[in-house]
Amino acid sequence: MTIEDTLTSQERLAELDLPQLQQLVGLVDYDSGTDPFPVTGWDAVVWAVGNATQTAHYFQSAFGMELIAYSGPETGNRDHVSYVLRSGAIRFVFQGVVDPASPLAEAHRRHGDGVVDIALEVPDVDRCIAHARAQGATVLEEPHDITDEHGTVRVAAVAAYGDTRHTLVDRSQYEGPYLPGYVTRSSSYAKRPGAPRRVFQALDHVVGNVELGKMDEWVDFYNRVMGFTNMAEFVGDDIATEYSALMSKVVANGNHRVKFPLNEPAPGKKKSQIDEFLEFYQGPGAQHLALATNDIIASVDALVEEGVQFLATPDSYYEDPELRARIGKVRVPVEELQKRGILVDRDEDGYLLQIFTKPLGDRPTVFFELIERHGSLGFGKGNFQALFEAIEREQARRGNF
Ligand SMILES: [Fe+2]
Repeated sequence: MTIEDTLTSQERLAELDLPQLQQLVGLVDYDSGTDPFPVTGWDAVVWAVGNATQTAHYFQSAFGMELIAYSGPETGNRDHVSYVLRSGAIRFVFQGVVDPASPLAEAHRRHGDGVVDIALEVPDVDRCIAHARAQGATVLEEPHDITDEHGTVRVAAVAAYGDTRHTLVDRSQYEGPYLPGYVTRSSSYAKRPGAPRRVFQALDHVVGNVELGKMDEWVDFYNRVMGFTNMAEFVGDDIATEYSALMSKVVANGNHRVKFPLNEPAPGKKKSQIDEFLEFYQGPGAQHLALATNDIIASVDALVEEGVQFLATPDSYYEDPELRARIGKVRVPVEELQKRGILVDRDEDGYLLQIFTKPLGDRPTVFFELIERHGSLGFGKGNFQALFEAIEREQARRGNF
């Protein structure tokens, strides 16, 4: 199978083609015939939030997403409301409790706003589940069909780190707006004049924070159960300030559309950002989602105009002659990056531009990264030090450092 064949329906709908995806998220060709657990790409990121109705508005107004589908009491779902939003090739699904007895209420009480399900599109749900079970994974939902007037999807789910799950979805026989039970929903919300058509086009990677000593277990899980391979590797002192440290390894599916960096805290003099996440999320969970953009300057400007807050980068970062020598020539003047706090990293394949938001919700847990790739398939290793120092300044302001 060529990568052209694996363009997802969402990517076609978003009018993204192969060269664009190769640049945006580092898509590569591979032989899915020998893959024990073939994954086409992301299906959706499902969030539990305290107020899905208002969160859906925020992601339209601030992040430029488009409301496309809905499920709730009016559609026969008395448990919770669920809003589906799209930007380019990626869907976010925001779920909020209606029935106080909903299991979602307990999940949200424990974790706060966060990602409950990183759903993946697969061509063969049954084959994946058979392999996952043989490798000892916890199967949360057996493969089954869900049908409505738009067709049939086949789904199943496996447990990942903490309470996070991976729902596996084969939607090749389905034409509806999201899943059976959802209805098409649009919004009267209108973007500001001059706002970019999309703030982001695709999802690049989702980072999982796991407990001390558990990173290799989860790397092994994705290798063994899901056939993912190891990408870049950061260990120990590579990512450390004087006070706190983390260890990180990255696994990816065959075509590299799905990339999961996995972090664990490393012992430091003070509480690391990973420890803070684990404390406030009450366990392992998705720490940040990297949103791929082809114009990070326009994306950051649009987000700042809507009030989204980013981590500040010290001026010393840009004035460092070593940095200037390391990054070489990039597509915009360094002064334009500095004005916005955008970070740069370069490796043997090219460079990338990236920036991190402050936490999205009330707890210091999940946040976003914006990433613009120019050949680099990395994750900004050279910037971890700068990111760490920036995050620690924020932690100290919250009194958690
Ligand atoms: Fe990242």
